[in-house]
Amino acid sequence: MTRTHLHTGHDHKQGAGGQEEILDLDAEVLAEHLAAITEWLPLTAGPRHIVDVGCGTGAGTFALLERFPEAHVTAVDTAPGHLQRLQEKACARDMSDRVHVVQADLDDADWPDLGTPDLVWASASMHHMADPERVIRNVHDLLAPGGLFAVVELAGFPRFLPAGAPEDRPGLEERCHAATGHLHAEHMPHRGADWGPMLTGAGFALDGTRTITVHIEGSRSEAIGRYALSALRRIRGAAVQALSPEDLAALDRLLDTGSPHSILRRGDLAVRTERTVWAARRT
Ligand SMILES: C[S@@+](CC[C@H](N)C(=O)[O-])C[C@H]1O[C@@H](n2cnc3c(N)ncnc32)[C@H](O)[C@@H]1O
Repeated sequence: MTRTHLHTGHDHKQGAGGQEEILDLDAEVLAEHLAAITEWLPLTAGPRHIVDVGCGTGAGTFALLERFPEAHVTAVDTAPGHLQRLQEKACARDMSDRVHVVQADLDDADWPDLGTPDLVWASASMHHMADPERVIRNVHDLLAPGGLFAVVELAGFPRFLPAGAPEDRPGLEERCHAATGHLHAEHMPHRGADWGPMLTGAGFALDGTRTITVHIEGSRSEAIGRYALSALRRIRGAAVQALSPEDLAALDRLLDTGSPHSILRRGDLAVRTERTVWAARRT
């Protein structure tokens, strides 16, 4: 594995600390769904060089390394903490020689040399870009002719609680999302977009799209409780100003892991979300 120097200074794009935890939980809980997406990719031959755009802690990187044993991955992200974690995982899985991490801001006009991949993967990262159309054009120019760009996006945050929960404040989770919706619309206007027209507008041919509906019962894994806890903790930070005192108190009871009302103790959790993949080919 090539170790590119990881800047550790403040990075405005890194966001609040602790994102590594939720990215790892997301990868663990949705592993089968991610594998189904990599299986579906319309590829005639196994890719040799993959670039993972906005790789985070490596959910896609490792799913792709598993799926394509001949491939190596260049994993790109702005956040040094994410890349550090990805490197640690690559070492633990004895895959260091197949991963090269690069710290870069892909909103910059000039990209570092990322080689000539035959597959570029961007999962839950394109909606973070300030100018996604420019990023798409850059990916188009980066890819080998005939190469594939896989854009995986989510319509919104996953939901965990049934509508009637918690018992004293039913519908709390939806109100939390309603309270933060305007912030997300402001900061991430491309979340939930139809990426097809943007991809074809940049010269790609659309080879297919697929939406995967996720519904995983909480009883499947104890990681689901931790995933729900981590997700609602992050939402609390953004929703705190807009929630009523009663809703905030109920949310805090769910987030208090020592409380009998803790979300970790609920038997009715489920992960409900959707992932859509667009497969776009450089002709
Ligand atoms: C929601 S996370 C998804 C991470 C990973 N792809 C996954 O599926 O778990 C979005 C990632 O995009 C990265 N990111 C956001 N803007 C970026 C930019 N301009 N250049 C590079 N990476 C960026 C973030 O640091 C973060 O790791």
